[in-house]
Amino acid sequence: MCGIVGYIGRRDATPVLLEGLRSLEYRGYDSAGLAVVHRNRLQVTRTAGRVQDLRDRLDGKTATKATIGIGHTRWATHGEPNETNAHPHTDTAGRIAIVHNGIIENAEQLRDQLTGQGVKLVSDTDTEALAHMIAAEATEGVTLEDAVRRALRHVEGTYGLVVLDIFQTNELVVARNGSPLVLGIGDGEMFVASDVAALVRHTKQVVYLQDGEVATVRAADYRTVSRPTTVEAEAGDFELGPSYQDFMRKEIHEQPEALRRALRGRLDERFATARLGGINLDPRQLRSIRQVKFLGCGSAYYAGQMGAVLVEELARIPSDAEPASEFRYRNPVVDPDTLYVAVSQSGETADTLMAVQELKRKGGQVIGAVNVVGSAIGRECGSGVFLHAGPEIAVASTKALTNMAGSFAMLALLLGRVRDLSAAAGQRIVSGLRALPDQIAQVLSDEDDIAEVARRFADAEHMFFIGRVRAWPVAREGAQKLKEVSYVHAEAYQASELKHGPLALINCSMPSVVLVPADELVAKNISTIEQIKARGGPVIAVTSADLPADLADATIRIPRAEPELEPLLLNVPLQLLAYHVAAKLGRDIDKPRNLAKSVTVE
Ligand code: G6P
Repeated sequence: MCGIVGYIGRRDATPVLLEGLRSLEYRGYDSAGLAVVHRNRLQVTRTAGRVQDLRDRLDGKTATKATIGIGHTRWATHGEPNETNAHPHTDTAGRIAIVHNGIIENAEQLRDQLTGQGVKLVSDTDTEALAHMIAAEATEGVTLEDAVRRALRHVEGTYGLVVLDIFQTNELVVARNGSPLVLGIGDGEMFVASDVAALVRHTKQVVYLQDGEVATVRAADYRTVSRPTTVEAEAGDFELGPSYQDFMRKEIHEQPEALRRALRGRLDERFATARLGGINLDPRQLRSIRQVKFLGCGSAYYAGQMGAVLVEELARIPSDAEPASEFRYRNPVVDPDTLYVAVSQSGETADTLMAVQELKRKGGQVIGAVNVVGSAIGRECGSGVFLHAGPEIAVASTKALTNMAGSFAMLALLLGRVRDLSAAAGQRIVSGLRALPDQIAQVLSDEDDIAEVARRFADAEHMFFIGRVRAWPVAREGAQKLKEVSYVHAEAYQASELKHGPLALINCSMPSVVLVPADELVAKNISTIEQIKARGGPVIAVTSADLPADLADATIRIPRAEPELEPLLLNVPLQLLAYHVAAKLGRDIDKPRNLAKSVTVE
């Protein structure tokens, strides 16, 4: 969702800001804008379109030689996604400009107060109110930082913001509460962004602002509570490169390496267990856990479901998953002996963050499973497992989900080995995990065949995804992926539930993707396929078992993994299936309509 950039230094700020905004496009947005100071005047340019439209509008005006500026990509919350509501917002005199992520909850009240004082508000946004309030506080002798602090005293809600004052062109003021903000430290220049994606091309030295922090940033100097750290990501990780046309396919193909990274140094052959230092629980504490509950949204929730199956199987501890959004609204019973796992690629999803905060308020034990270092959920949890998937740009999650499931396999192994999972069984899982990256690469090498299947069925208006037990969360994720990127209606069902209702929908125009792992349920799954075929339904089987060649209309074969780990492999052809259906239908694969990469609002 919304993205922020800021620059102060010696360079022409406009191209730097535009480039930063371009690298934030993947988050999803509906309008964009920037403000620079030129000859002591604020120049604000906004558009209800894309960053490219902003660039087009600026053409000719880009050589302003402004050396300070702020920019924004907006996902509408308060007010329509039009040009007037796009950020930056300014006060009436055009002195203060502000870009803001998050939501000011008492915006209506603040807007009414301002109107009562005779201020004419031009937009429908919460942010504009703040611009006027800061301007009112920025009286003679008051620093911009103090003016921002004073204005923020009246604000309830979340924010990551950057403020510019034309009377103080040697500084930007930044503030954070709930919405991420990162400073990039250059050589005699400073960058600000809501996401390191906009910084890595300039610098690897960054400072993640803490919640509640307000700071002044100058070209060669800043003061913050946290110390600088070095970002792992390379600028190339955020670029497509010559081999790919979109990030989803690039990220699907990065999975073997991404999973290898997540496993590196964490598998202990000698004691047949996993080492997850970040969760900070000793064997006695691990033993006292009586239940494990995974919380996440979207794909992170389905990954949590895969985690729950793994924990129950390997550790024999009751486990389940729940959408974080449901959990936070239903006044949950928080059990001190339950280990809660907050699952999130971005570490920013508002519903998941709120669920963590609710848990902490009730004394729950919560760890994070997060991909983005320095993100809100990672910080709030304080301990957990980093996913090490590398930057994920496509809205549809692929490699992060695989690393979530791989990390949960390690968590389940660890929990199992402090209980009744034998060393021999532990060893089997360790070896199975080690083999997975190459097995995923093997599945990916069959992409052409999978693409062919996808093209054959791309005209279907609806599709079923059928799995049972271990493969059930995979079926749900497969249906989700197809919906997200191709807009083909898809539903997932447990194989056993088919005959209790959905079978009524089976006919020749309702293809079913049936997941058949080579486990003890193969015979049951074969009979599911036969039931569908008997009603004229086309079947695509995804399997590691030796199914009769003519059983299904199309068969996608995957290598045989340890049965508990097979869901990680079954998922990969489903990603490719969704991708190639979407490609055949000409969809905007990386940025599906109406979806954002990180949903930072309710
Ligand atoms: C959004 C994205 C989904 C993602 C979900 C959770 O809805 O469109 O692809 O699975 O958020 O995101 P998270 O960053 O918390 O894993």
